[in-house]
Amino acid sequence: MSYLRSDLPALSNKYYFNYGGQGPLPKSSLDAITSSWLKIQELGPFTNNVWPYISKEINETKSIIAHFCGVNIRRVCLTENVTSGCVLPLWGLPFSKEDRILISDCEHPGVVSACKELAHRSNLKIDILKVQLLREGDGEETINNNLVVQNLEKELKPSTKLVVLSHLLWNTGTIMPIELISEILSNHKNQPFLLVDAAQSFGQIPINEAAKKADIYAFTGHKWAFGPEGLGGAILSERVLKEATPTLIGWKSLINEESIHNNNPNPFHSDARRFEVATSCTPLLAGLRSSLSLLENEGNGIERIKKIKSLSYKLWEKLRNIEKLDLILKGPPPAGIISFTMNSKFSPKEIVKLLGKESVWIRVVEDPAWLRACVHVTSTNEEIEKLATLLEKITN
Ligand SMILES: Cc1ncc(COP(=O)(O)O)c(C=O)c1O
Repeated sequence: MSYLRSDLPALSNKYYFNYGGQGPLPKSSLDAITSSWLKIQELGPFTNNVWPYISKEINETKSIIAHFCGVNIRRVCLTENVTSGCVLPLWGLPFSKEDRILISDCEHPGVVSACKELAHRSNLKIDILKVQLLREGDGEETINNNLVVQNLEKELKPSTKLVVLSHLLWNTGTIMPIELISEILSNHKNQPFLLVDAAQSFGQIPINEAAKKADIYAFTGHKWAFGPEGLGGAILSERVLKEATPTLIGWKSLINEESIHNNNPNPFHSDARRFEVATSCTPLLAGLRSSLSLLENEGNGIERIKKIKSLSYKLWEKLRNIEKLDLILKGPPPAGIISFTMNSKFSPKEIVKLLGKESVWIRVVEDPAWLRACVHVTSTNEEIEKLATLLEKITN
């Protein structure tokens, strides 16, 4: 058993396939959070003695995230979750009336509704980029990037100002060619910004090139990175830092709090802190650092995705042999997300409940209502066997 798995209390009493919803938190990360909380009380909580500790925690964490994503630390903005990592900079982009947003048909409801509301308030138009049907196995073992590009080029208009696309689609489990798309956008007349939802990629697949190229690469620690809930962030491009204005403004966005008294026309940080807001939960930083370090002990990004793929392939193969189960990916999964439907007298939600009674946890993703099972480096053959056996039983 890997050290990481043995450090996950959540996995000691269940068969877990919901990494894409929330990853389990290692005991040592929980201990790191508690120690940091205690340290803050010993030093402060609101004293001159505690500020250097808090600054050190923030800088150390940002520096590790910058290294993890292969970018300069000034591009790292800390937020609470993926959605605020997407939405805070999104609302500050320099849109003009009648500009268009191109959003994929596989984005998360929170991000979609933020784009719709923004379009409504700022008089923008929304177009849809179709990627849901472009999946592994539809004639090719791996997704044909040309098809994504073809659809992108079809939908890009002269006034498209923003493209919104996930790196790894949360429902189909397919990886999008972010670097290629970024290149196409930079050659487009209007040079649209590229917002990438990295909820399912951060901690699961190598992300350096995509994080470097996207304008907004928004992630969270609490899914595939085994971090605590409540801490995420966004990697912002130099162009976003220069052209986007802060949105939810607070003292953390300011160079210093006194600057508001001397009518400084530009009181905001020039780096990604311009999108940070105010007091946040410092102890979570130690938790995320601990989890990222445990994750890296399991192998580098390439080694980890290799292991994830070998496990997801096993699950995919087993599910493929269940007669009344229909896999969404017709070819081997490119990462750890496997979605499927079942021809059963039970609804997807009932199936989740039935499995839960046996301590097996998967979920239903909405629209389309597919069942989704995720495997990670900590998954085991025993878990895979258990899930497949139960699903087979449910269909009989
Ligand atoms: C693709 C995607 N985007 C956004 C979210 C929302 O995440 P958060 O609650 O961290 O904002 C999720 C959560 O499942 C997701 O899968």
